[in-house]
Amino acid sequence: MNILVIVAHPELTASRANKALLQGLNKIQEDIHIHKLYELYPDWNIDTEKEQELLLRYDRIILQFPFYWYSCPPLLKQWFDDVMIPGWAYGPGGTKLVGKEFLVATTTGGTDKSYRSGGDNQFTVSELLRPIERTIAKCGGTYLPAFVCYDANASTEERLEQEAQRYAEYIRTPLPVLTH
Ligand SMILES: Cc1cc2nc3c(=O)[nH]c(=O)nc-3n(C[C@H](O)[C@H](O)[C@H](O)COP(=O)(O)O)c2cc1C
Repeated sequence: MNILVIVAHPELTASRANKALLQGLNKIQEDIHIHKLYELYPDWNIDTEKEQELLLRYDRIILQFPFYWYSCPPLLKQWFDDVMIPGWAYGPGGTKLVGKEFLVATTTGGTDKSYRSGGDNQFTVSELLRPIERTIAKCGGTYLPAFVCYDANASTEERLEQEAQRYAEYIRTPLPVLTH
C-alpha cells in the first residue's frame, strides 16, 4: 500500500510528539511519502494542481496534525478549501477522491479520560473530528478511525517512542482490520 502523510504543524522544529511520530515513520522501508504543508507553503499560497496530482498517486492519505482548539491547524483547513474543489473532489465530475482512504492522526494535550462524555472536554476526539469525516465522505473517500496520541505534552520520550511504533503499525493496517 502506498501512503501519503500530509503533516500540518506550524512549528515542527519545536514539536516533540509529531516529530517523534514522524521519526517512527522514517524507519519504515515502505512507500511512505511525508509532505509537510507549513514547510512547503510558508506564504500559504497552496499549489492546488500539485497537491491534487500528489493525492492521485496514493491509495491512503494520512492527515497528521496537533489538535488545536478541537480542530486542525489553519493551513490544513486552507488546504481543504483550495484542493477539495468542485468538479475535482465533489459535485458534477468531481470523482477524483472516490475510494481513497483517509486517516487522521492527531496529538492532544488532553488525556484520553478528558475526551469523553462527562470529562473535561465533553466529547471524544472522533466526535470533534466530524467536520473532517464529513468532508471526506462528501468527496467519496473512505474515512478510517483516527489515530490519537493523547497527553502528548506530559509524555516521556519513551512513551512517545512507543506511540511512534504504534503509529507506524496503525497507518499500515489494512482497511478490513481497521474497520472491523
Ligand atoms: C494553539 C493551540 C491550541 C491547542 N488546542 C488544544 C485542544 O483543543 N485540545 C488539546 O487536547 N490540546 C490542545 N493543544 C495542545 C496541543 O495539541 C499539543 O501541544 C500538541 O499536540 C503537542 O504536539 P507537538 O509536541 O507535536 O507540538 C493546543 C496547543 C496550541 C498551541
